[in-house]
Amino acid sequence: MRQPVLSRNLLLSLAKKHGTPLYVYSAERILEKLTHLQGAFTLPLHVHYAMKANNFPPLLKLMQKQKIGVDVVSGGEIKRALECGFKGPQIIFSGVGKSVEEITLALNQKVFSLNVEGPQELERIGQIARRLKKPASVSFRLNPNVNPKTHPYITTGFRKNKFGMDRSFLPLLVKILKKYKREISLIGLDFHIGSQMTDIAPIEEALAKSIPIWKDLHGQGFPLTHFDIGGGIGISYEGQKTIDLKSYARRLEKHLKPLGCEVMCEPGRFLVGDAGVLLTEVEYIKKTPFKNFVIVNTGMHQLIRPALYQAYHEITPLKNTGRRKIKVDVVGPICESADYLAQNRMMTEVRQGEIICVHDAGAYGFVMASDYNLHAKPKEILI
Ligand code: LLP
Repeated sequence: MRQPVLSRNLLLSLAKKHGTPLYVYSAERILEKLTHLQGAFTLPLHVHYAMKANNFPPLLKLMQKQKIGVDVVSGGEIKRALECGFKGPQIIFSGVGKSVEEITLALNQKVFSLNVEGPQELERIGQIARRLKKPASVSFRLNPNVNPKTHPYITTGFRKNKFGMDRSFLPLLVKILKKYKREISLIGLDFHIGSQMTDIAPIEEALAKSIPIWKDLHGQGFPLTHFDIGGGIGISYEGQKTIDLKSYARRLEKHLKPLGCEVMCEPGRFLVGDAGVLLTEVEYIKKTPFKNFVIVNTGMHQLIRPALYQAYHEITPLKNTGRRKIKVDVVGPICESADYLAQNRMMTEVRQGEIICVHDAGAYGFVMASDYNLHAKPKEILI
């Protein structure tokens, strides 16, 4: 049986003390993942944690203490990052729909870079920078049109996706840069082609396709200095093989080294995904002639990944019971048939009142929770 990231006894005592549903995160595991990632690269790597994956303040403060930066996608995230000790120049601001207010906040806070997703956004940044008399550093987010081989809802690097910019945008972008040459400096390029990727090839292809653009811009007199390779490194939810960090680093550095640039990345899930669990209690067992339902006190409102992406999360009881396995659906209290955490899953038989553990819930768990049906949000703890 898969072991949780923290000891079962500790998790049981936390569930008893704080009640369920409860998200528990392991600081030790997060630090281990960060060290692993940084250690894989031979070039200095500027890690900007993609806080959309998990923005629990104690967890952000832990990241901040490691002297890494943060990748944000909204004004709300900028404010949360600042509250947790990050300084403006440690922030990169990504995202496809930056509002006037958000850009104003970013410029006032002197963020390291706004990762631009379109010409109108660049124009808007120029106007705001001019009005505020604040310089803006930007990076161009490219859409390299590659297949990241992941779930369609978390694919971002295809040309049919709303994210990033096609090479054909360059002449217009350069025109806008020239118009705002006193306000905007272009510091580099970036891409983020998808999430939960388990194959390096598409990332390497995206990078290889970006190099001519880098050279082209250099040739036009823009001294780019930073390349941001995005996030997207997958974790092993189902015991599947995922990206080997050493080969990832080696294959990307082959392209990056000749550029002589600073390398940045924006990992979210990789750092926190398998560092978290969601503890829940079995409210009822309902056996019908067709199904065995395990009805728990959490569901799609608190961990939407199974319902939205048909994602797999391992689920195990916390007591090592040695009971037989049976086929069950683990479902929540929400009035929707998509409200499941597992379907047709062979799982150790559990009983009413028992605490069970949903694994790998550290990324895109609590942050995507809602109060649908007016259930209170679960508590969170960082150990
Ligand atoms: N950078 C940008 C610009 C992003 O859009 C994302 C994620 C990341 C970095 C971090 O990606 P990661 O390293 O975590 O894969 N809710 C979905 C995942 C959505 C990812 C959105 N963007 C899920 O639960 O699978």
